[in-house]
Amino acid sequence: MAETYAHITGWGMAVPERILTNAELTQMVDTSDEWIRSRTGIGTRHIAENGQTTASLATEAAINALRVANLSPPDVDMIIVSTSTPEHIFPATACLVQERIGAVNAGAFDLLAACTGFIYAVNMGAQAIRSGSIQNAVVIGAETLSRIVNWEDRNTCVLFGDGAGAFVLQASDQPGGVLSAVLRSDGSGSGLLSVPAGGSAHPIDEQAIADKQHYIQMNGREVFRFATRVMASATREAVEKANLLIDDIQLIIPHQANQRIIDSAAKQLKLPPERIVTTVEDYGNTSTASIPIATCEAIADGRLQPGDNIVLVGFGAGLTWGAAVAEWSGPFPYERKVRFSLYRLLSRIWSFLQRIRRRFEGIIWDTEDDK
Ligand code: COA
Repeated sequence: MAETYAHITGWGMAVPERILTNAELTQMVDTSDEWIRSRTGIGTRHIAENGQTTASLATEAAINALRVANLSPPDVDMIIVSTSTPEHIFPATACLVQERIGAVNAGAFDLLAACTGFIYAVNMGAQAIRSGSIQNAVVIGAETLSRIVNWEDRNTCVLFGDGAGAFVLQASDQPGGVLSAVLRSDGSGSGLLSVPAGGSAHPIDEQAIADKQHYIQMNGREVFRFATRVMASATREAVEKANLLIDDIQLIIPHQANQRIIDSAAKQLKLPPERIVTTVEDYGNTSTASIPIATCEAIADGRLQPGDNIVLVGFGAGLTWGAAVAEWSGPFPYERKVRFSLYRLLSRIWSFLQRIRRRFEGIIWDTEDDK
């Protein structure tokens, strides 16, 4: 049987319009534009407005990616949303995206590997395609970190931003697409970056709120040291696994947490800045959304062409880290025009009908129980 490959055929992003500048942050906490820029490289970040959520950003990014791939929502077999700021504890944010885009034939679930999550999600989607069990997947990294940031804590609030990015992965017998991945974790560092309250270990109560345990807690120095250690090694491992050399890689798209971490990885890999994508200045750290957002920016700037080899590499809470190598594909040629607004309308009607069906089903069951 011919081998199946998982190609990246669509990409899209969504960020809130509201931009929060370093100057504005100096009105909120004891910091300065000079400190933030010199220690992190961040200039601005996007912050979700009221009513904007992880699911709404994820939906927008997914539709943009499907539009590039020219793939109709009912053809999507699997939706994976990687997020640390899900819409709710459950149901999965991916199910809300499934309904909103009208992917009526898709399985949907969330995945949590913090800032490394998008690499985990790309690998899971690609593995499902390569195994032959599905044809098309949408993988999304989406965050509204502004909702779990303590805006009085200068150690963390200057770092994070909101946004979403998505890839469409599709099966093909043509070689290319996702070539390799390494996924790693080290739970011994779980306390270095976490939101301690709100889960089963520490449900939110008055004390948790008073102690601000429902916000991000971080040991910045330790996380920094860990990040500079793993970025280059994960890149090397993934490249070797793909039977390539670093010189065969046209572009590295790293997790955008801190310019100094990216520079350190580039130095260890002996790569010039033009082979590394950085967007941290404009978006800050958008966690699992940062790699697909940076990919979209690289494409918009004409830095990524079909046939290029790329590395996605990241690290984050868990601790987790990982890298994936892909040969960039671009959209498959389809002679059709998908009308996404029509699918969204049909999906709303479908959901409405499903709710009515459930109501009638309930009435019939209750009547039968009474007999
Ligand atoms: N403005 C001004 N001063 C600040 C500040 C801010 N926003 N945040 C922290 N400081 C202070 C600290 O309180 C500390 O003061 P002290 O020495 O009086 O205690 C001082 O700056 C230096 O702190 P330090 O931790 O040495 O700074 P740093 O150079 O390591 O930079 C980080 C701090 C957070 C930017 C850096 O450690 C980092 O980026 N870590 C990784 C974080 C990360 O990427 N997290 C997400 C992972 S996905």
